[in-house]
Amino acid sequence: MSFQIPRGTQDILPSEVEKWQYIEQVARDICRRYNYQEIRTPIFEHTELFLRSVGDTTDIVQKEMYTFEDRGGRSITLRPEGTAAVVRSFVENKMYGSPNQPVKLYYMGPMFRYERPQSGRFRQFVQFGVEALGSNDPAIDAEVIALAMEVYQSLGLKKLKLVINSLGDAESRKAHRQALIDHFKGRIDELCEDCQSRLEKNPMRILDCKKDRDHELMATAPSILDYLNEESRAYFEKVQIYLSKLGVDFEVDSRLVRGLDYYNHTAFEIMSNAEGFGAITTLCGGGRYNGLVQEIGGPETPGVGFALSIERLLAALEAEGISLPLIGGIDCYVVALGEKAKDESVVLVNALRKAGIVAEKDYQDRKVKAQLKAADRLQAKYVAILGDDELEKQVINIKNMTTGEQTEVPLDSFVSYVKEALQ
Ligand code: HAM
Repeated sequence: MSFQIPRGTQDILPSEVEKWQYIEQVARDICRRYNYQEIRTPIFEHTELFLRSVGDTTDIVQKEMYTFEDRGGRSITLRPEGTAAVVRSFVENKMYGSPNQPVKLYYMGPMFRYERPQSGRFRQFVQFGVEALGSNDPAIDAEVIALAMEVYQSLGLKKLKLVINSLGDAESRKAHRQALIDHFKGRIDELCEDCQSRLEKNPMRILDCKKDRDHELMATAPSILDYLNEESRAYFEKVQIYLSKLGVDFEVDSRLVRGLDYYNHTAFEIMSNAEGFGAITTLCGGGRYNGLVQEIGGPETPGVGFALSIERLLAALEAEGISLPLIGGIDCYVVALGEKAKDESVVLVNALRKAGIVAEKDYQDRKVKAQLKAADRLQAKYVAILGDDELEKQVINIKNMTTGEQTEVPLDSFVSYVKEALQ
C-alpha cells in the first residue's frame, strides 16, 4: 500500500524550506520595526467563532470549512483564517485593558479551506497576518497597508498593484444595501442560486460571486462610494492622504468587496501584475473591522489588519524571476582516511560545531574521493583532510575550496584556524 499527500496540500522539502525561513524572517524583522508582536492561537476553534465573524453567508463558512465533531460532541473547525482567533484571544485575555493601545499583533501559521485546488490555491496554506486593535486613526490603516507592501518590496517584488476601497460605516452600508437589493431584485433569477439566497440576507456578497462575476448586472451595480456618509468619506480620504505621505501607490476600486463579512471602512488587496502569474492574482487582503470585537463579546473596539499567504508570495517571486539571497552550503567538511582518523573526525566535527561552525563529516564509510565529492555537493567552504599519518604528527590539512589553497595546521589550532578563515 502506498500513500499520497491529500489534495491541495504540499510537502515543503528541505530544498524549498530555506526560502520559507527567509521570508518568515523578513516578515518578523519588519513586524519588529513596526512594533507588532507575535501571537500564536490554536489551529482549531469552536465553529461558532467563524460563523459569527467571517459570516454565515460567505463562501468560507458555507463551502470551505473543515468542520467536525470532536469526541465530546463539540463542533470544531480548523481555522480558515486568523483574524477571528486573534480577536477571540484579544477579548478572552482582556487585551483591551492593556495600557499599550492599539494592541499590535502578528501571526504566521497554517490555515485550512476546502477550496478547489489550483495554482495558488491550496487547502492548507500558510498565512502571515497582522492585526491592530484599539485605534480608529486612519493612520493605522495606512501603516498596516504600508507594512504589507514593505514585506513584498523588501523581497524584491516590483509588479504589485494595491487596490483600496471603502465599505463605509453601518449607516452607509445600510443605504448601499437597499440600493443593491433594488438593483438586483428584478433580475435575480439570472444569477446563481447562491446570489439568489444572498439577495435579502447579504446583497453585498453577490458582488463577490465567483460564478456570475462577468454578468452585466455586476458592472452596473450601485457603487458603495456613492453611498458613503460624510464621516466615512472623510475617513477614506484621510487613509488615502496617509498612504500618499508614506509613498505607497494605490488605486481606488469601488467594486472591491472582500470575501469575509466583518469589514467596514477600509478594504484593500494587493495583487501581482507580473506576466505569467496565474489566474488568481490576489496576494494579500485586509481591511478594517470595527464591529468584530463586540460581535465576539468584547467591548466596542476598532480593528484593522491583513493576511497574505506565503504560497502566493513565492509564486509572485517566481513570476518576477526573483531568487532570494539564501546562504546554503556548509563551512567545513572533515574528510578522514584510516580508522584512527575516522574516530578523531567525530571529535573534530563536534568541536567545530561547538564553535558555531557549520560542519559535516562522512557516516557512510566512503572512500576519500567519495568524501571529497560529498563535500563538494554540500558546497563546503573548507575541507579538512585527516589521515592516520597526519594524526600521528598532530596536524591537519585544510583546503580553501574557493582558492584551492592548502595549509597544514597543528591539530590543536584547527578550530580557531577555520573560525578565523571564515571571517
Ligand atoms: P482572505 O482574503 O480570505 O483574508 O485571505 C488573505 C490571503 O490569504 C489571500 O490574499 C491569499 O494570499 C491567501 N489565501 C487565501 N486563501 C488561500 C488559499 N486557498 N491558498 C493560498 N492562499 C490563500 C483573510 O483571511 C483575512 N483574515 C485577512 C484580514 C486580516 N483582514 C483583516 N485582518
